[in-house]
Amino acid sequence: MDNQHLRSLRLRNFRSHESLNLDFNSNFIFFSGPNGIGKTNILEAISLFSPGRGLRFANSDELRAISNLGNWNVFSLFEVEKEFLEIEIGEENNGKKIVRVDGKRKPLIYVGSVLKIIWLTPAMDRLWTGRSSERRRFLDRIVMSFFPNHPKDCLFYDRALRQRNQLLKNNETDTSWFLAIEKQLAEVGYRIDSNRRKVIDILLQAKNIKEVESFFPYLEMHLSPPEISNSEDFLEALVNGRAKDRISGRTLIGPHRSDLLVRHSAKNIEAKYCSTGEQKSLLLSLFVANALAICNQFGKPPIILLDEIVAHLDQANLANLFCQLQKIKAQIFATGTERRSFQDLNLDSLFIDLKYTAEGIGCFIN
Ligand SMILES: Nc1ncnc2c1ncn2[C@@H]1O[C@H](COP(=O)(O)OP(=O)(O)OP(=O)(O)O)[C@@H](O)[C@H]1O
Ligand SMILES: [Mg+2]
Repeated sequence: MDNQHLRSLRLRNFRSHESLNLDFNSNFIFFSGPNGIGKTNILEAISLFSPGRGLRFANSDELRAISNLGNWNVFSLFEVEKEFLEIEIGEENNGKKIVRVDGKRKPLIYVGSVLKIIWLTPAMDRLWTGRSSERRRFLDRIVMSFFPNHPKDCLFYDRALRQRNQLLKNNETDTSWFLAIEKQLAEVGYRIDSNRRKVIDILLQAKNIKEVESFFPYLEMHLSPPEISNSEDFLEALVNGRAKDRISGRTLIGPHRSDLLVRHSAKNIEAKYCSTGEQKSLLLSLFVANALAICNQFGKPPIILLDEIVAHLDQANLANLFCQLQKIKAQIFATGTERRSFQDLNLDSLFIDLKYTAEGIGCFIN
């Protein structure tokens, strides 16, 4: 199987890291160090090499080091299918994000077609009890790997939705104006819904999902409300729903109202009613299924970022997770305050300890 590895990373004026140089020759890289030293910032920098706004969903301004007025930059060297790619992402003087691959300017979507990077963060531990918008965003990130135009569709849809909601609020009576926007919503909305459903099927049918089952709880998963069967029906529903929408001042139907519903199969209970540890296991089942599905679809494992993964996870489940991820030979970057839990896992590891030194933040390999 082909593979992808991040071989080196250079951060300049990136959040708390004014200048940080790292090289990686392993499949498992673990960053330890005290709270606030900048471990998650490193994972965030790696996450920028995928479509979207990275694991904190930050805009370009937030990424610039507060202490320094210089532009932020992340330089990387990836090894993909035995070829080396130098990819740089940073900001221009006008604050806009810029991406260069081997010195040539490229759209971020291009990087997304070459590299597959997925992550788990502590914020996702609250996924099943949080708002439906968070679950949609979580699902949409997965969809992106399989349908690179999905983020563009989502942006387009949101813009058209805002326009329609404004017409509703303004009590606009010009039906042709409504219809023009609704046609756009219907076309793109149908595609968004259908791509989300296709990806749920891909995840559920991931070839090795049976193996995942034996380690993590089997989950049932579907998207509510019922499927949009085609754009014509959705358009009709939007037109017919205008009067009702006018009363509430917003559009009441469409993929912006969908929710990803997950059940713990064996317990026959909705994810939100499961225990904290069970909820984490459900999340991990889905995450591993995503990694396997990427492997099946693209013939290479994703690069995996695990921020503070040990919270709510006992040693057996942690070992299970790494056993699954090792099977597909994914390169994994993880953070934690303690390396102890990872030392017994028998991984091809590089432990990097971040410490404050007189010269700034130092990286100590041991
Ligand atoms: N734009 C920025 N410029 C400078 N510092 C920033 C910027 N954004 C965030 N920080 C700081 O970066 C520091 C490190 O953050 P990070 O989340 O990476 O720490 P961490 O090592 O993961 O800590 P923890 O163990 O608590 O998760 C924080 O103190 C934060 O305030
Ligand atoms: Mg952190």
